[in-house]
Amino acid sequence: MRRDVDPIHQDLLHHRLLQIADDFGAVSDPLGAAMRHAALSSGKRFRGMLLLLAADASGGVCDTMVDAAAAIEMVHAASLIFDDMPCMDNASLRRGQPATHVTHGESRALLAGIALITEAMAVLATARGTDGRTRAQLVRILTQALGPRGLCAGQDLDLHADKSDAGIEREQDLKTGVLFVAGLEMLAVVKEFDAEDKAQMIAFGRQLGRVFQSYDDLLDVIGDRETLGKDPGRDAAAPGPKRGLLAVADLQQVSRHYQASRAQLDAMLRSKRLQAPEIAALLERVLPYGVSA
Ligand code: IPE
Ligand code: IPE
Ligand code: MG
Ligand code: MG
Repeated sequence: MRRDVDPIHQDLLHHRLLQIADDFGAVSDPLGAAMRHAALSSGKRFRGMLLLLAADASGGVCDTMVDAAAAIEMVHAASLIFDDMPCMDNASLRRGQPATHVTHGESRALLAGIALITEAMAVLATARGTDGRTRAQLVRILTQALGPRGLCAGQDLDLHADKSDAGIEREQDLKTGVLFVAGLEMLAVVKEFDAEDKAQMIAFGRQLGRVFQSYDDLLDVIGDRETLGKDPGRDAAAPGPKRGLLAVADLQQVSRHYQASRAQLDAMLRSKRLQAPEIAALLERVLPYGVSA
């Protein structure tokens, strides 16, 4: 994300990540360098920023939410290390630079991904400004999002399962939606939302995952290397099961589906916890309406 966009929240998140990353090389400098390569490179930081803006709209950003946002970005960075490895999507460019396994080697990239996840859990287990009970809830939410009922299962389906219309949304929920849902669930815990507000957060996170992954699949076709910071055309060139939404629909259909689900997402912004112009603006920047296939 551009540095001039929401600079206060960007800086809060960035400085917390820098602080945490200071310790990555405590024992092995090269391992720390690989972790920093993944966690500090110039991604959009969309998940973390969304959390901070949503916290802001619900009484204010606090240290606990900054830690939650940093933890989400760290596990997301780890998921990208794994996703790019030759045994998965075999992608060599990420965020406009060589993927972590290209720069640091496969074995170190693998270890860096694992270490980023364990460090993220440690950040939550010691989250600032809250008590042991809340910390335990935060750890539980993020571990569940990543494990065999979450992102690991989603990536497994993405790589190996035959695609169907019905299956594709489940796959999007698992590989992409889980991190959005987890972030918003953490917000609900920290800000003590009631059951109805929490349910609305979860529904919004799931819908956001679907829209986000559909747009990512679209960009793979219509985007360019420079803007994306990754090589386009990879889904189309991949064998059947790995082709994302394009495995079950053509470009026009994907584009129509994206626009319809994007409109549903906008309707969900009417939920009282999400009614902030900054949140709508962030979504508009990352998930624009105007897509021509
Ligand atoms: C890419 O996520 C992976 C998907 C879930 C599609 P982002 O598009 O948020 O990647 P960065 O963090 O900006 O690099
Ligand atoms: C990435 O999905 C999802 C996760 C990393 C969990 P993709 O493989 O579609 O994302 P990109 O296009 O490589 O960023
Ligand atoms: Mg993938
Ligand atoms: Mg990929």
